[in-house]
Amino acid sequence: MTGIFKRFAAAVLSLAVVCSMQLTAFAAVDDTGYADVDAGAWYADAVAYVSENGLMSGTSATRFEPGSTMTRAMLATVLYRAAGSPSLADENLGYPFADVPGGSWYADGIYWARLNGIVDGYSDERFGPNDTVSREQIAAILWRYAGSPAADAGEDFADESAISAYAATAVDWARANGVVSGKENNIFDPQGGATRAEVATILRNYLTMEAPEQPEQPAEDNRVLVAYFSATGNTETVAGYIADATGGDLFEITPAELYTDDDLNWTDESSRVVQEYENESLRDVELTTTEVENWDDYDTVFLGYPIWWGIAAWPVDTFVEANDFSDKTVIPFCTSSSSGLGESGDLLEQLAGTGDWQAGARFSGGSSADDVAAWVDSLNL
Ligand SMILES: Cc1cc2nc3c(=O)[nH]c(=O)nc-3n(C[C@H](O)[C@H](O)[C@H](O)COP(=O)(O)O)c2cc1C
Repeated sequence: MTGIFKRFAAAVLSLAVVCSMQLTAFAAVDDTGYADVDAGAWYADAVAYVSENGLMSGTSATRFEPGSTMTRAMLATVLYRAAGSPSLADENLGYPFADVPGGSWYADGIYWARLNGIVDGYSDERFGPNDTVSREQIAAILWRYAGSPAADAGEDFADESAISAYAATAVDWARANGVVSGKENNIFDPQGGATRAEVATILRNYLTMEAPEQPEQPAEDNRVLVAYFSATGNTETVAGYIADATGGDLFEITPAELYTDDDLNWTDESSRVVQEYENESLRDVELTTTEVENWDDYDTVFLGYPIWWGIAAWPVDTFVEANDFSDKTVIPFCTSSSSGLGESGDLLEQLAGTGDWQAGARFSGGSSADDVAAWVDSLNL
């Protein structure tokens, strides 16, 4: 695990401890300390909670402005604080958003959030820091922050069809876990802007959500293999968490010629990875071996890879082509900076031609063992 991800995990853990110790903050408050937040208001205890935990401050010493809308920059900053405001000094922050100047008060929060796969820009160049964050965006951001866990579809909202496709699972998850509730008449109002009072409530709900139960080990007769390719260690970390949660065996897909840092430099047109990307015939990567000991004994195969230019890093192709997935349940998983799983699982399924391929999941490099275990648990293996 790289430094930032360790720090991130530690910060989230310490926040969880802080939250569990400050039970008084969940109770009704007598005086919120803000002239514009009445102690009897529906959001008063949430405002007290986010203030006491240093997540949101007033707009002045005496005012919280509960009815003002929240911007995308504010939300990224609040989550960055929730993670303990880790230093970004040693991080490669990637390309800049044209509308997020390095010296702005929200730059660290936004670049940290992108680094951890929590927020995307509208495009590579634009983040829209001053745009009001919509209710479905909040659900999606918190869901990614939680490691993009699987969620049952549950009951539909009356305006379900208005929820954007990218936010659909996030809204299901948010509703199932009591993070975001609907409005009157079972309306979710996905594109509606959220007020600071609503965001305080959503954050309090999320941060005091019960930790998911640790998954039970799958039955003895369901043998699990976790096969993965990882160039820089992120996918390997997640693969390890899956093996821990399932009791499965690990198998590393290893190129005969390992990728060096120079090979992976996608900003250099002559690098190996760019050459392979531009010329499909070069993507036939030889592996040290494609054979897994006792392959026939495995019922479930988790298949992990980093996303490269929106698809599965191609060294996994060689592994998939070489093996017979008949009678196996195959569950793809990937890590990426911000892209989702996309059609990577479908493309691998086509390449394999056999096996019962599941939808799979995408994790950010900062996903914790608990996030991954919660996802494994949701699969009901
Ligand atoms: C050549 C290359 C292409 C990448 N393309 C994408 C991409 O399209 N979308 C994305 O979100 N991340 C992309 N990334 C970032 C990786 O998916 C991410 O860092 C991943 O967690 C790396 O996993 P690993 O450490 O297991 O190799 C790319 C990285 C490299 C090296």
